[in-house]
Amino acid sequence: MSSEQSSKKRVFSGIQPTGNIHIGNYLGAVRNWVIHQKEKENFFCIVDLHSLTVKQDPDELRRQTRSLAAILLASGIDPSASTLFIQSHVAAHAEGCWLLNCVTPIGWLQRMTQFKDKSVQQETISAALLDYPVLQAADIILYDAHEVPVGEDQKQHVELSRDIAQRFNHLYEHEFFVVPEPVIPKSAARVMGLDDPTAKMAKTYAHVRGHAVRLLDEPDEIMYVFKRAVTDSGREIRFSDDPERAGVNNLLEIYKAVTSKTPEEVERDFADARGYGDLKVRVAEVVIEMVNPIRERYKTLMEDPAKLDRLLAIGAEQAAAVSVPKLAEMKRIMGLVLPGESR
Ligand code: AMP
Ligand code: TRP
Repeated sequence: MSSEQSSKKRVFSGIQPTGNIHIGNYLGAVRNWVIHQKEKENFFCIVDLHSLTVKQDPDELRRQTRSLAAILLASGIDPSASTLFIQSHVAAHAEGCWLLNCVTPIGWLQRMTQFKDKSVQQETISAALLDYPVLQAADIILYDAHEVPVGEDQKQHVELSRDIAQRFNHLYEHEFFVVPEPVIPKSAARVMGLDDPTAKMAKTYAHVRGHAVRLLDEPDEIMYVFKRAVTDSGREIRFSDDPERAGVNNLLEIYKAVTSKTPEEVERDFADARGYGDLKVRVAEVVIEMVNPIRERYKTLMEDPAKLDRLLAIGAEQAAAVSVPKLAEMKRIMGLVLPGESR
């Protein structure tokens, strides 16, 4: 590693390959990875093992994993600045999870909002669903990541990763793991569903027409979905935290994030709008402009799956170069005998 690289802050983030990636994922997370990648040392991980915590169709999971890799590259993740890899390619994550399980009180996991939300949706709750945040902690802390750029919904999980890192440090060796910080964007940290602005836009519902704008949607579809977005019976186009006006607020938030304008500039842009119809069309237009080049680059990347696989293999190698030695040191600290240690 060059000295220039080592002086940069280390970033780790992850995204599940299942469900349809939407503008909430992009604006809340992926775009921020791309924007800051040159200033940091980055690890971006397609967390296929996390997807397995709920039932998946094996063929579909395989297809979506490759497709997500292409979407991330098409979104601007640059392999010369960032390590992009598939979680299951680096066995240290699953092993690290086991070791961290041994220092994590079960009560910490039972309190997690996502566990409570997801478990009511399942017929059978897997042990892995409860354990989900411990694997996430392993992802992050095996890389000694300082920063974890995520949307608002992941704040609790990153805070748990902090708690786990601190507990390990306290139990075994002071300052062994870097204690990571969540980095939540100022705009679009929580993009809401277009069909229901009181619920977060979610990958699992992105197949329901009208709920989300998916990154690969064609312009006609995006326009259709925005035109049908739920608003209210008023006319005023202003930011507001009134739950009754959450639909309009969500549209303005999306516009603000896409254009990187201030709230005042955004409201000024709509001062001449003729009602919500106008607002919806203009928001759709800026979103279409944002996603068009991503969709085109995606199509090109998917034409060469062998190249994609090569990039992911290099990514896994680079990731393992960091996490495998860290895991070995962790094992030693915990009292495990390393293979060939006495030789
Ligand atoms: P996931 O879809 O759970 O794999 O999330 C991938 C990333 O997108 C995480 O950083 C999430 O916090 C972020 N994210 C997911 N949904 C939203 C949303 N509706 N608004 C903003 N960020 C989101
Ligand atoms: N749980 C995260 C989500 O659903 C994905 C994730 C897994 C992650 N490991 C991570 C995010 C490590 C940040 C860092 O969005």
